[in-house]
Amino acid sequence: MEHTFDFLVIGSGSAGLTFALDVADHGSVGIITKKNRAESSTNYAQGGIASVIDANDSFESHYNDTMVAGSHLNDPEAVQMIVRDGPKVVQRLIDMGAEFTKDSGRLDLGREGGHSHRRIVHAADITGKEIERVLIQKAAAHPNIHVLEHHFAMELITEHHLGKKVTRYDDDKHCFGVYVLNTENNKVERVLAKATMLATGGAGQVYQHTTNPPIATGDGIAMAYRAKARVANMEFFQFHPTSLHLPGANSFLISEAVRGKGGILRNGDGEAFMKYYDDRQDLAPRDIVARAIDDQLKKSGEDHVFLDVRHLDSDEVKEHFPNIYKTCKSLGVDITEELIPVVPAAHYLCGGVATDLSGRSTIHGLYAAGEVAHSGVHGANRLASNSLLEALVFPRKAATSAIDYAAEAEIRKDIPEWDDSGTTNTEEWVLISHNKRELQQIMWNYVGIVRSNLRLERAFRRTKLLYQETESFYERTKVSVPLCELRNLIANAYLIIKSAAQRKQSIGLHYSTDYPPEETSHRDAEKITMV
Ligand code: FAD
Ligand code: SIN
Repeated sequence: MEHTFDFLVIGSGSAGLTFALDVADHGSVGIITKKNRAESSTNYAQGGIASVIDANDSFESHYNDTMVAGSHLNDPEAVQMIVRDGPKVVQRLIDMGAEFTKDSGRLDLGREGGHSHRRIVHAADITGKEIERVLIQKAAAHPNIHVLEHHFAMELITEHHLGKKVTRYDDDKHCFGVYVLNTENNKVERVLAKATMLATGGAGQVYQHTTNPPIATGDGIAMAYRAKARVANMEFFQFHPTSLHLPGANSFLISEAVRGKGGILRNGDGEAFMKYYDDRQDLAPRDIVARAIDDQLKKSGEDHVFLDVRHLDSDEVKEHFPNIYKTCKSLGVDITEELIPVVPAAHYLCGGVATDLSGRSTIHGLYAAGEVAHSGVHGANRLASNSLLEALVFPRKAATSAIDYAAEAEIRKDIPEWDDSGTTNTEEWVLISHNKRELQQIMWNYVGIVRSNLRLERAFRRTKLLYQETESFYERTKVSVPLCELRNLIANAYLIIKSAAQRKQSIGLHYSTDYPPEETSHRDAEKITMV
């Protein structure tokens, strides 16, 4: 089976849907997405979108906060772009019907770590759901947009599939579409297009503990890397300080906005410990807070710290954080009366497919935006609530470029069908789940918040074994989503480990005991690790 579109979008989160809406007046658009269309990290976003709205705030202040959080490894132009476009993309969502929380008729602006002003636009604590709702609604109403749910993108199609050798360094490779597994009939289909947008989100599932939903398996980065695109800054994986820690419960984020409202981190002795680590205390950037918690846990031997909101007005807590209140209550914790047990968990990948300011990857016709991309916005650490902003701004720039590109490009007619000769259905499925679990543990234990050369070497050796075993299994087995996701997670782990080993300094989210941070100033730090 073959589908053809002028524009192909892989992923239906905020980045993919924004791009789709912006190109839709210029040709047919196919959005493929691996589950139902709402399932994405976007849908679970809590805190909100950072944007300069308040009259006392300024673009300069948002710019500075972003650069400071990113240890100045950010691309200044990319940061300028998201900061300046912030109010426009917020207004666009409102025009589409998004209902953000208001206070006395004006947008209620929340506060999060690293921000020197209140600037987080939010819809209570379910901002992502509201964004996803309006974007999906708008896309559904456009006659040119076709959504293929339960279609899993497996491999980007380039000259490689036409028998030509493609390398990472040549400048003459093109993307013609993607091979997808239709998970409703288990058939591999070709989706061909003039321009392709990769908007597959992050890779939190590479770690044992993550705030990310199960779809976040780094498929886009792995596919782009295999297709020989350049990938950058993969060592910068952000750990969110406050993921709910309750035995048996699924991972659940306790938004940073809770600390923005006055929530206080406490250790097992009840002590508010952040004062020992940073003047900004509970509202220091995430890398600092997550490392502080890690340090507290190592010192105490305990497995979690606490977030305390008992001193806040209980009606306000329920009003501002209805979903957090309800979820914790259903798990037996009334947050207005009890401490919330929390631990850091893998949350956001700052690195990804290297793009320019128009979202172009190093493969012609392949664009990337949102969490899958490395656009230069985040540097060594993402400022809170800047990722929805990036995912709403960059696809718009990419759309302008892709419209021009598609006007000149043609859909290839000579793409071969997927070749699965020599593969069989095997019974060894347990190998996939075991290898996935092992990989997640390796990454958590050796490539987590605090790293060292020794730990990275150990992680590399063990991941290589998993790679060899999984590739050999892949070569003789019919494709399936769990198998493809495992391969992709291993590729992401490899890229994270390799980039981490390349960066011989502690900066931002990459902290190595072999390179004390005081020896690294942002002036002598490498901007980008490219693989
Ligand atoms: P996603 O929204 O993750 O969308 C990716 C899409 O790609 C999905 O539709 C997925 O199914 C699809 N996909 C993936 N692989 C394939 C494949 N192989 N084939 C087909 N489809 C595929 N950021 C903020 O700025 N503010 C916040 O308040 C905030 N809160 C967050 C809370 C949580 C719990 C989490 C997990 C993240 C939060 N973030 C927040 C981060 C932010 O939500 C994400 O970075 C952002 O939504 C990413 O958008 P995206 O469109 O790039 O990816
Ligand atoms: C949160 O609500 O704490 C998440 C915000 C973000 O990831 O930017």
